[in-house]
Amino acid sequence: MKQYVIKGGTPLVGEVVIGGAKNSALGILAAAVMTDGECHIDNLPNVSDINVLLQAMEQIGATVDRIGPHEVVISGKTIDGDGDLIVDNEFIRKIRASYYFIGALLGKYKKAHVALPGGCAIGARPIDQHIKGFEALGATVEISGGMIHVVAEELIGKHIFMDVVSVGATINVMMAAAMAKGNTIIENAAKEPHVVDAANFLNSMGANIKGAGTDVIRIKGVEKFHNTTYSIIPDQIEAGTFMTAAATTKGDIIIRNVIPRHLEPISQKLQEMGAVVESADDAVRVIASGRLKPTQIKTLPYPGFPTDMQPQMAAAMALSDGTSVIRETIFENRFLYVDELNKMGAQITTEGTQKAVIQGVEGYKGADVVAPDLRAGAALVIAGLAADGYTTVSDIKYILRGYEQFDEKLRNLGGCIELVETEEEAEAFKQRTR
Ligand code: EPZ
Repeated sequence: MKQYVIKGGTPLVGEVVIGGAKNSALGILAAAVMTDGECHIDNLPNVSDINVLLQAMEQIGATVDRIGPHEVVISGKTIDGDGDLIVDNEFIRKIRASYYFIGALLGKYKKAHVALPGGCAIGARPIDQHIKGFEALGATVEISGGMIHVVAEELIGKHIFMDVVSVGATINVMMAAAMAKGNTIIENAAKEPHVVDAANFLNSMGANIKGAGTDVIRIKGVEKFHNTTYSIIPDQIEAGTFMTAAATTKGDIIIRNVIPRHLEPISQKLQEMGAVVESADDAVRVIASGRLKPTQIKTLPYPGFPTDMQPQMAAAMALSDGTSVIRETIFENRFLYVDELNKMGAQITTEGTQKAVIQGVEGYKGADVVAPDLRAGAALVIAGLAADGYTTVSDIKYILRGYEQFDEKLRNLGGCIELVETEEEAEAFKQRTR
């Protein structure tokens, strides 16, 4: 059983380099099978979700050449378009992004049979908007046997109104529409940086997509894609996680390889809490010395405050000198970390599924906690680094899905943390660091 063991109390100080955006790379890798040319993609994060996706595309016949941990060359040329195009295995069923193969394979081959998506238990996470978009383009969609089956004689561009601002549905429908006949308009589109990154990637292969990053995306379908070389944007959420870790541990961290504009909602909130945030071209610096001030957060689609940063910010707000409030408007089950942080001495209460009230406390006490999902796990690690005493965070498979070398990067910042596999290793860490 893998765990993080942490001895808290050391402010995080130094520099950290941010990797490629996981939630951008997942859509882009799936889209790469849409060309019979070669896609040379770098700045990939080397995390388990990415590796699961690459294995799945090899299973349907794509050529995947791993040049290094952060670089791959993919071609869909070797996929048998007359084959079944079934994307299903025990690993792909556990990740959310499996659904991107539907948009990619439907766009190019006009069919796909993909396992229903898994992912963190932060809510029901329906896919009705994905299906709405595929059906609008002319596909027949059937869900049976734990699979989504989509088939189309042809795809015809349409004017599609999304009922919900959905990152996944926007990217997925954009992919299918990119190779449909005629023009598609997606209204009420998601505007996240990784939606723009996916559109830029598709355009680099020869797609004709305009307006990504706004509410209205216009797509002129094309018949074929060509080669491309592409670099994934930096991970806004990994960067925000380290920004919040600096604030929570009263540290001073320079976070390199970021796009500061993508971090503005996080920078603003940390400054409201009394941290100093300095921005340069591709770096931000977060310095916090005194006790943080309380604040309020309401999660919203980009450019609002990102839901994927909500647990990490709660870990900081729980140490502020007052009462903070979080309103989670995107997911209905994103407070799973509350009980675990309260085990460490936090005083957080939830009111229904969308509101948490945080009474700031002086400090955390180390405790044994369990990571309930990816970002909640990151929040618990941050709290452990600020806590008095030892904390073990177990069930860290979720964290490993979204953060590359998380413990190494934190150790390089002075954090006293180790990934252990047995009780003996945990004990040895504690003996070594007493
Ligand atoms: C992506 O999930 C991210 N995951 C999530 O990050 C992120 O929290 C989310 O976008 C919002 O930014 C990946 O990119 C792999 P949505 P996604 O569709 O696409 C509802 C992380 O920690 N909805 O934007 O699944 C949905 O229930 C993960 O890295 C529908 O109702 O999110 C939610 O309430 C967690 N019908 C809201 O929309 C649909 O068809 C936003 O979901 C689709 C979504």
